Amino acid sequence: MQKGKKNEAIGIFDSGIGGLTVSKEIINLLSGEDIVYLGDTARVPYGTKSGRTVRKYVESTTNFLLSKNIKLLVVACNTASAYAIEMLKETLEIPIVGVVEPGAKRASELTINGKIGVIGTQATIKSGSYEKKLRDICSSPIKIYSKSCPLFVPLAEEGWENEETSALIAEKYLGELRESGIDVLILGCTHYPLLKNTIAGVMGKGIRLVDSAEETAKQTENILRSQGLLRKDGKAQQMSFYLTDDSETFTSIASRFLGRPMEKTEVVDIV
Ligand code: DGL
Repeated sequence: MQKGKKNEAIGIFDSGIGGLTVSKEIINLLSGEDIVYLGDTARVPYGTKSGRTVRKYVESTTNFLLSKNIKLLVVACNTASAYAIEMLKETLEIPIVGVVEPGAKRASELTINGKIGVIGTQATIKSGSYEKKLRDICSSPIKIYSKSCPLFVPLAEEGWENEETSALIAEKYLGELRESGIDVLILGCTHYPLLKNTIAGVMGKGIRLVDSAEETAKQTENILRSQGLLRKDGKAQQMSFYLTDDSETFTSIASRFLGRPMEKTEVVDIV
């Protein structure tokens, strides 16, 4: 049984590095809150795995974060949110924020013509979780156009956001979506905010992009506020970063995703 308390940290996890885009938004918006981040770098990527495997991984990442006494859990991975959020909501007593619902909610607010695009990993798109959430939220008829864009993950990690190659790949993935008449596109993968400019360039001005990282940070703040869990003791923000495997390139890539130099990381075994 977990009971949230104001001075406890916000726990955040992802399959690896992508969740740092969500962490960046949370750190900026909630600068008085401590953060404990776990990147499951030993088992990344989740986006090509089955729902059963993703749920098994999520159980162990969550158990690790719970052992750090967190007051709220952010599932900062679309694939994990798609397959495991219901399981977590049924079993945990602390508030849980996934990335799918905030993004879907924002898209439903922004769309004018009811045509919404969703891009993500193969597993996220296959799960149909954005479609389901959008249909739950939207009261008027909507059309949803989904597309998995697996190459966007390595492109974001390589830092190729301004390369011509990335624009060509984005055009190949997204050209058809653009022509479908959507007016909103959900970036349904935590790596994609790094490629926002490239994606916006391909989609053109008439299509609004929904960054689930930003929306997730706002929802985290709303939940903490409404449940009286915002930290108010004025102490400096502490950030701890844990990985399940050491990686030579993690720190440099991570600093780009986080938007600030990454402080030290610790490698842990999780079960
Ligand atoms: N962070 C993952 C997501 O948002 C993408 C990387 C992976 O496949 O694990 O789905």
